[in-house]
Amino acid sequence: MTPKQKILSLLNQAGDVVSGEALSAQLGISRVSVWKHIKSLVASGVPIVPSPKGYHLTRDADSLFPWEFGEWQDRVHYFRETPSTMDDAMALARKRCPDFTVAVAQRQTHGRGRLKRTWESADGGLYFTVVIRPEIPIVMTGLVNLAAAIDMADLLRTQHGVDARLKWPNDILVGDRKLCGILSQLEAEGGRVAHMNIGIGLNVNNAPQTDAPNAVSLKALLGRPVPRRRILTAFLDAFNKRISIFDPRIVIEQWKSLNVTLGRRVRILTTRAEVEGTAVDVDSHGGLILELADGTRQSVMAGDCFHK
Ligand code: BTN
Repeated sequence: MTPKQKILSLLNQAGDVVSGEALSAQLGISRVSVWKHIKSLVASGVPIVPSPKGYHLTRDADSLFPWEFGEWQDRVHYFRETPSTMDDAMALARKRCPDFTVAVAQRQTHGRGRLKRTWESADGGLYFTVVIRPEIPIVMTGLVNLAAAIDMADLLRTQHGVDARLKWPNDILVGDRKLCGILSQLEAEGGRVAHMNIGIGLNVNNAPQTDAPNAVSLKALLGRPVPRRRILTAFLDAFNKRISIFDPRIVIEQWKSLNVTLGRRVRILTTRAEVEGTAVDVDSHGGLILELADGTRQSVMAGDCFHK
C-alpha cells in the first residue's frame, strides 16, 4: 500500500477524526508528510475534512470511491474525470488486471456509444466498464452482452420498481425512453476470449438531453435522486454470479421475458449494412432472427436496432 492508500484505509476504518500524530505514528512518516499526502488527496476530490483535532473522511451514500465498495474495493478504479472508462478498462485489461476489475467515472469527457456515437456523461450518471475473462467460446460472447442487460434491468426493477425492459441487443428502456446503454469490446488470444470489457452508462441523477432526446433518468422516473453505489455493487454481485455459472439457455429465456423487440418491425444498422424485417426470435448465440420481406430468415449478430 502507498502512504496515501494507508491514510485512506486508516481514516475509513476509524469512521471518525484521526489525529495527524496518530497517522504519522502508524505510517512511520512525519506529520508534515502526512499533511502533504492529505492535501494531495483533497486536491484529487477525496472528501477529507481537516480540523484542529485531525482529519475526517466524510461519507456520502452516492460516492463511488473504491473504499466504499466493501468486498469489491480492490477491483474498483475510480476516476473523477476521464475521457472514457472503455479506455481505462482496456489499459487495465492489457496489464492483466484480475477478472471483474472495474473502471468507474464521475464524468467522462469523451463517453462513447455504439456505432461511434457519443454518450453524454455529465455528473450524476453512472459510467463504468467491467473487465471480465469468461471461459466461454468467442461465439457465445453475444449472450454475455444480453446477460449484462438482464442483470442491470432486473436490479432496476427490484431495487427501484421501474418497468425496465430490453431492446435487442442490450439497451434498457422504460416505455420507449432509454435509461441505460451497454457497449462491449473484446480481445481474443489464440481463439479464446482474453478479456471482454462491458461498458455501462446508466442515467441516474443526470439529465441527458442534448445528444439523447429520447433518454430518461432514474431521477426523472422516480422524482428523487438515487444513490449510484448500491446499483453498481448489486450489478457486480449479480453479474459475477451469472458469469461463474453461465447458462446460455437461462440467458435466452430471461432475455425473452424482458424484451420489447420480438414481434416488432425493426431496422438493424451495423457499421457496414442495414437490414429491415420483423424480429421473430433470438438464436442460440444471442443473434436476432429477422423475417425479411421475401419470407426468408436472417440472423444478425451485432448492430443497433431501431423499432419501427
Ligand atoms: C450505447 O447505448 O450506445 C452504449 C453506451 C455505453 C456508454 C458507456 S458509459 C461507460 C462506458 N464508457 C464509455 O465511453 N461508454 C460506456
